[in-house]
Order: sequence, then C-alpha cells, then structure tokens
Amino acid sequence: MTLQTSEPLPIESLAQLNRQIIVILDFGSQYSELIARRIRETQVYSEVLSYRTTAEQLLKLNPKGIILSGGPSSVYDPVAPHCDRQIWELGIPILGVCYGMQLMVQQQGGEVTRSQRAEYGKASLSIDDPTDLLTNVEDGTTMWMSHGDSCNVLPPGFEILAHTDNTPSAAIAHHEKKLYGVQFHPEVVHSVGGQALIRNFVYHICDCEPTWTTAAFVEQSIREIQAKVGDKRVLLALSGGVDSSTLAFLLHKAIGDQLTCMFIDQGFMRKHEPERLVKLFKEQFHIGVEYVNARDRFLSSIADITDPEEKRRRIGHEFISVFEEESRRLGPFDYLAQGTLYPDVIESADTNVDPKTGERVAVKIKSHHNVGGLPKDLRFKLVEPLRKLFKDEVRKVGRSIGLPEEIVNRHPFPGPGLAIRILGEVTSERLEILRDADLIVRQEINRQGMYSLLWQAFAVLLPIRSVGVMGDKRTYAYPIVLRFVSSEDGMTADWARVPYELLEIISTRIVNEVPGVNRVVYDVTSKPPGTIEWE
Ligand code: XMP
Repeated sequence: MTLQTSEPLPIESLAQLNRQIIVILDFGSQYSELIARRIRETQVYSEVLSYRTTAEQLLKLNPKGIILSGGPSSVYDPVAPHCDRQIWELGIPILGVCYGMQLMVQQQGGEVTRSQRAEYGKASLSIDDPTDLLTNVEDGTTMWMSHGDSCNVLPPGFEILAHTDNTPSAAIAHHEKKLYGVQFHPEVVHSVGGQALIRNFVYHICDCEPTWTTAAFVEQSIREIQAKVGDKRVLLALSGGVDSSTLAFLLHKAIGDQLTCMFIDQGFMRKHEPERLVKLFKEQFHIGVEYVNARDRFLSSIADITDPEEKRRRIGHEFISVFEEESRRLGPFDYLAQGTLYPDVIESADTNVDPKTGERVAVKIKSHHNVGGLPKDLRFKLVEPLRKLFKDEVRKVGRSIGLPEEIVNRHPFPGPGLAIRILGEVTSERLEILRDADLIVRQEINRQGMYSLLWQAFAVLLPIRSVGVMGDKRTYAYPIVLRFVSSEDGMTADWARVPYELLEIISTRIVNEVPGVNRVVYDVTSKPPGTIEWE
C-alpha cells in the first residue's frame, strides 16, 4: 500500500475518487443499510440517501446505479413515499427492491394490487431469463420474500425474468431503459443467489469497477483530512478499541504532530490494557499518547455508590471533567476526532448539525464514553474520517494498517468498564480481584481458540460472600460469575454452550489463583430477559 500524504488534493478531485457510487434511495426498509453493505462487499462504494433526493441532486453525484429500497408502505397509501419522477429519465440503471419495484411498476404505467396471499419467507425462484440480472443465479434458488402487494400488470416494455409459485413477476426488466425490479430481498442472508444478483447489477448492468478497496479508502481519507484540517490542531480521545485506534493511525498519517492522542485511564480497564495500548502506539505506530492517570479520581467519584445508574452517571460526569481539564491543558484544539461510523450517520442524519454552517458539531463525545454534553465554550469542530465505514470495514482498515488482532477483534467493552461488572460498591480490592479473574477467563478462552466464536466472555464480581473450604480451612469469600454470550449485534443474546472442560479449568484456576474468591458460577440467562452486563 502506498500512502501519498504530501500535497492535499482539491475537493473536486476527491469527488472524482468517489465516482463509482451506487446510491440507495431509502423508503424506510430495515434492510437499506444491508443493501449498502452488500454492494460494498463487491468493492463498489454505496450510500443510503433519503427517497426525497431529487433527480437534480442525484445527477450531481453522478451515480453508476440507483437502488430503490423496500419499505413498509403500499404504493396506494395516500401518504406513500414517492421518488422524484424525473429519476426514470436520467438514463442511470435502476433496481427496485420490493416496494421499490412496486413504485417502479406504478410510475411506469403498470398496475400493483394487494395479493390474495401475502408472501413471507423463503420462496423458490424459477428463472425465465438467465441472462443479465440473473446471470449465474441458479434456477430454483431460494430467495426471501416479504410482501403483501404484487405487480399485476407490467408497464409497457417490461419483461418477466423470474417467477415463484405465488408471484408471477418476481423479477422484471426493461432492458433498453435498464430498469429492473425484484419482488424479493436479494440482500438478506437467506437469499442464496442474492449476492450474485447484486454483483450482476453492479458489474454487468452499471458497469462499475472495483474501486472501493481498503488501500483506496486509506489514501483518500488521508487527503480529505489534510484538506479539511489544514494546519490546525486535532484532539483524539483514545479508548483502546478498533475505531479510535484506526482513527489515530489515519490522522497521524495525515497531519503528524498536529494530532494529540489522549488516553484517560479511569482505572476500570482490564489487566495490562492501558500499558499495552500506550506501548503499542509508541513502539509500533510511533504515535505519542498523552496518558492521563485519573484512577484515584474516578474511584473516589463512585465511593459508596451502589446504584448502577448513579454509578454510570458519575463516571460519565467525571470523564467530561477530566476531558475538559486535560484538553484545556494540552490545547487549544480546533478539531475533535470522533470515531463516528456510517450507521451512526444514517441514524442521526439531521442531528448535531450547525444550522448556519451545515457542519456537524461536537455536542457530545461518542456514546461509548457514556458522557453527556461538553461545556458550551468547549465545542470543537468535528473530524470523522470513519463516517463512511461500517464496522467490518473499520476492522479491515485496522488490519491493513497493522493493528494487532487483539484490538481488531476485541469484544465490546462498556465505557464504564469493570466498574459495572462489580455489583454494588467498587473498591480497589474488588477491582484487583475482578481483574485477575477476568485475565484468567481471557487466557483460557484464547487458549481454546474460542475468543472469536463468542460475542463477549467476561467475569463479574458479586458483592456478597459465601462459605467454602480450602485445605482444612473454612473460607468466606466472593463468588465470580462467568458471563459468556453469543450474539449478532448485542441487542439479543444467548448464553454460550461452551464445553464443561473449559468451565472446569477456568473455575479451578480462579479459585486457586485469585485470593478472595472461593466460588465460580455460570450465568445461563439469555437476553431478553437478562442483559449482557450485570449492571
Ligand atoms: P446490555 O448489558 O445492555 O449490553 O445487554 C449490550 C451491549 O452493550 C454493551 N454495553 C455498553 N457499551 N457503554 C458501552 O459502550 C456502556 O455503558 C455499556 N453498557 C453495556 C455491553 O457490553 C453489550 O455488548
């Protein structure tokens, strides 16, 4: 990978680099973001925009193709979302998915009606025209349906490409105008031939080239940072996760010493993590980190506090105070670097924007620090180089720049850290115990090669004591709970069915090696009704 960091490119040239874009117009589908991810997996850049985007705005973006997403409405609802009718005349290939197809049919002069039978779930796709959109998609392949309306009469010039038992026009095309529609959802994982279809659209129909690569992203974002920041100073709060670490690397490549990385050690991280992070940055990346030891401050801020919400609130508040003091001490800074990712941008499209300049402003530090607002006189402009990326893309970039796997694949770790894994009062003695138990958990999970198979695996300390016996002596000590879960996104989770042998090794080691613990229990609660963390 070559990194050209010398001359900033003018903004127009940056637009040129992004020329290969497929735009998704979002009609409210839960899958719009997923379509964007699937397209990016084909190495073509893709963005989700509102269905209200006009043909004129689209022309400026000059996309290679447009996808109209699905959506919960029926095209006949009085308030159904419609796209600008001019987009059909742009000469840009369009693929309508589910609602998007129905809209295409309606606006092109066909007819959409409520089907006799709504169709949900898997359906076998019978292919009538195996060329074009359906090249290499197997006849009889499974596609995932979710629709109540169907296209009854096709608009003039359209042909059927495929059907299912219930849906005569499951895939349609107007070859000349390059308009395509599919009644199913090619983007979901249950649609077996879905990715092949998406590739066909991207490469055969829209004539894209694979320009969305990690190397191209790194090169482009370095230039963008230089163009934006100029000779100003940037502050970055490192947390040790993949987002802020990748961010630090990119910014440092782009602006060198104009970047200040600050790591606030709250004292609630896992064993050895603060030291390792600072060392890694210094030795591997040659990036200096301002290490702020605020352990005592944080611990006293929650002394005697047992209520979980109050604990979180105080830690968040303390973070803001330390951040504020330290940024004044090290500053002044013009920009705050944030690890905002693309899903955050889609979800908060209109929030946090300065109405005068249209710039996104820092009203809060990213939510993983669990902090409220910064004081009014300490507002920074934002630099957010990861804002176009999905999490898996950040991991790819992180890996490509040499971040070790332990950071790239790190399990989620809550902002308040171990403080919310010690139930009730947090003391330095309890922190020490939990850190040692947690280290054993990590060591054994890694030894068994299970780390990447689990969403999270950690220890929790309960503030009670139970009786045990060690040697000839009776003990009266804390129990440790093991919480190992599998999950897709943290919203729901299941307790992990790990081998008994693994639990046995961990339990034996913790009780033998960690003074103050005489019992280990395994949490077998799913989420819901339980949460992953215990506080
Ligand atoms: P729960 O406990 O709500 O957690 O099931 C869901 C996911 O969120 C993580 N989590 C947090 N992450 N700050 C964070 O950045 C927090 O305060 C916080 N609390 C929970 C948790 O580890 C799990 O992955």
